Amino acid sequence: MKENFIKKYTSMTGGASAAYIEKLLPLIDEIRELKKKHNAVILSHYYMTPELQIEEKEGGIADFVGDSLGLSVAATKTNADYIVFCGVKFMAETAYILNPSKTVLLPDDNAGCSLAESITGEEVRKIKEKNPGVPVIAYINTYAETKAECDVCCTSRNAVKIAKSFESKNLIFIPDKFMGQNLAVKFKTETDKNLILWSGTCEVHEQFRTNIESLTMANPNAELLLHWEVPQETVESTLNKNKGIVGSTSDILNYVEKSSSKEFILGSECDLGATLKGMFPEKQFITPCIMCRHMKLISLQKTLDALKSINTPSQQKYQIQVDEPILSKAYIPIKLMLDLS
Ligand code: 13P
Ligand code: SF4
Repeated sequence: MKENFIKKYTSMTGGASAAYIEKLLPLIDEIRELKKKHNAVILSHYYMTPELQIEEKEGGIADFVGDSLGLSVAATKTNADYIVFCGVKFMAETAYILNPSKTVLLPDDNAGCSLAESITGEEVRKIKEKNPGVPVIAYINTYAETKAECDVCCTSRNAVKIAKSFESKNLIFIPDKFMGQNLAVKFKTETDKNLILWSGTCEVHEQFRTNIESLTMANPNAELLLHWEVPQETVESTLNKNKGIVGSTSDILNYVEKSSSKEFILGSECDLGATLKGMFPEKQFITPCIMCRHMKLISLQKTLDALKSINTPSQQKYQIQVDEPILSKAYIPIKLMLDLS
């Protein structure tokens, strides 16, 4: 088990000191024991640091590693009593809304998201007043109180499918304006949809600008992997020179799997680069390596602390809950998204 972990960790990081890996191993052992003791599962997002992304079967701690849609689906399938969410707060909230009978623990309650923080339920009500009858699609990167005012949710993976499932020509898409602009370009050729947008941005992906342009110039044969949340200007100025895609995290993984290219430039969160290196060790990934400070609040030590808190007074510090009536109202758009996916 230890050898498997070291092998995987090394392939994801491109090499790490043996002394550093040795420090991680006792924490991993303790986490694995506590998971068993409390019938807990760990769901881990691709933006986590490598030690949090390695699955239990590879000597790590995660029961499931995925993008936000994959994690939401995994949350509906588990028989565990506790879900420890290695991700950010809106993801842990979604897991709780889908499983209110389970205890959901987030190792750091400050793990937020600039998109989720950019819009409130009250602001959605005002947009709806200005655009009566227009369906509202909420990106999953929103808090429950915002989702409660919306018709359907979407993630980066199913946004196109969800939007197309509505008959209405006009659709309100909140809160990511860059993702909305990128989707609008795609819709221009495929549908007659018109998106009404909010002004939110991802503080990580909005930084992919001249840094990506310089990398494309220095590596003209590398293919581009851009997340929907990257500014539309960057997509336009780089994707007409280099081959590649703009899409979801899973589109990025699928694209690399199918491509015969050996070199890629990543326009997404830094540790997705580690995921890619671990999955495709024979390929090279060039990235400006911009990290999500919210995702990086989650660590092995804090994950262990959250598990240790179970059945103690400090469990409250980690527990994510959504109260009624928001719980029932936010369930409707999330469930509709899963049904349409
Ligand atoms: P995914 O839906 O691709 O997992 O993205 C989540 C996210 O936070 C993107 O910045
Ligand atoms: Fe939010 Fe951006 Fe971080 Fe994703 S990467 S959690 S959208 S701030």
